[in-house]
Amino acid sequence: MNQSTYRERRRRVLEAISPGVLVLPSAPVAIRNNDVEHEYRQDSDFYYLSGFDEQESVLVLSSEREQPYHLFVRKRDPEREVWDGPRAGVDGAKAEFGADQAYEIGTLETELPKLLETERVYYAFGRDPAFDRVFFAALANVRARAKTGVRYPVELIDPGKVLHKLRLLKSGEELTLMTKALDITREAHVAAMGAAEPGKYEYEVESVLNGVFRRRGSERPAYGSIVGSGPNATVLHYRKNDRLMQDGDLLLIDAGCEYGYYASDITRTFPVNGTFSEAQRRIYELVLEAQFASIRATRPGATMDDVHKASVEVLARGMVELGLIEGPVSDAIKDLRYRKYYMHKTSHYLGMDVHDVGPMFENGKPRPLQAGTVITVEPGMYIPADADVPEQYRGIGVRIEDDVLVTDKGQRVLSAGIPKTVDEVEAACRGELT
Ligand code: GLY
Ligand code: MN
Ligand code: MN
Repeated sequence: MNQSTYRERRRRVLEAISPGVLVLPSAPVAIRNNDVEHEYRQDSDFYYLSGFDEQESVLVLSSEREQPYHLFVRKRDPEREVWDGPRAGVDGAKAEFGADQAYEIGTLETELPKLLETERVYYAFGRDPAFDRVFFAALANVRARAKTGVRYPVELIDPGKVLHKLRLLKSGEELTLMTKALDITREAHVAAMGAAEPGKYEYEVESVLNGVFRRRGSERPAYGSIVGSGPNATVLHYRKNDRLMQDGDLLLIDAGCEYGYYASDITRTFPVNGTFSEAQRRIYELVLEAQFASIRATRPGATMDDVHKASVEVLARGMVELGLIEGPVSDAIKDLRYRKYYMHKTSHYLGMDVHDVGPMFENGKPRPLQAGTVITVEPGMYIPADADVPEQYRGIGVRIEDDVLVTDKGQRVLSAGIPKTVDEVEAACRGELT
């Protein structure tokens, strides 16, 4: 994104908060162990408004000032920069990132209270307890000066109220990045289908995914990749990815890359030996039918609940027909019996965060989908290895997940190019697709 995009976003936020001041700290640094840090990734709200990816920064937008955009940043430090790489510093914050005013982060304690001389402040309490303390101290400082006639915050609002409504609706520029992320993710899934075979470990397939992500310029996976074979496919948040794959297993891969700070989120399930067994195929086609039903239900005005119900109806009927749960179907749905094998929801918003922000409810009711929103559609069926069901179905886990843009007319599957039908998947497993 270029600077004009961030400038326009800040303009829209300023318009929405006026009169008021918004304060966003950068993402905190997370310790991995001892003196090793986790890879740093900027907070999505912060990046959305600035494109600035340095730690120990604070962004302030103030409608009270002629020059509204203020950035606190780490100062230049030639000695540290030898170790960690260049910093923008105060000059760079202004010249490269468009800040009207920039400060060294060390001056926050004295400068932030001055910026809070206003009645309405947008700040997300509880997200970063360490920064909460800094913010509280600044607040106390302004309030203490109220008797000298200084205005102080009497109204505190979560900035998500403004920011997340904007982030929910994707611009053409954002969709270009999401489409690029999906193109890389498509190549990764196709390569994984070609690479998996009995006698290999799950992590060998994970390395194929990571190889494609990085080779094509993705910064990182958008979340921890799930590469679960055999019974591991039924473990929803399986992350070890260390099992030796067997002939006759299904392999469930839930993996998507991040590109330019935008996530993709894709699941495919395929036979490790390249050919679905009869029972696997039956379950797979049922989940696929559910997914198509949910994709058709995705349109402006529908809710994520409607999208979910479309999958539940197909899956519950299938479960009854296969003898996995007791009928009749209407009771199986009403009594939530289907949840034994389909226990999660079908959709979430997708964007800069994999479980993206945006209001899901309005006045206590599910919020209708709007054109310009991207959601996932990801039904599945997970039958534990020890389930009391006909033997051929035990230990089968299937999920199929695509990323879908809500359009004026209905929907567009942004991940349409990733093999999905039984024939396409088996062809990819034979290495016939690239
Ligand atoms: N990969 C996370 C999810 O599917 O929601
Ligand atoms: Mn998902
Ligand atoms: Mn997923």
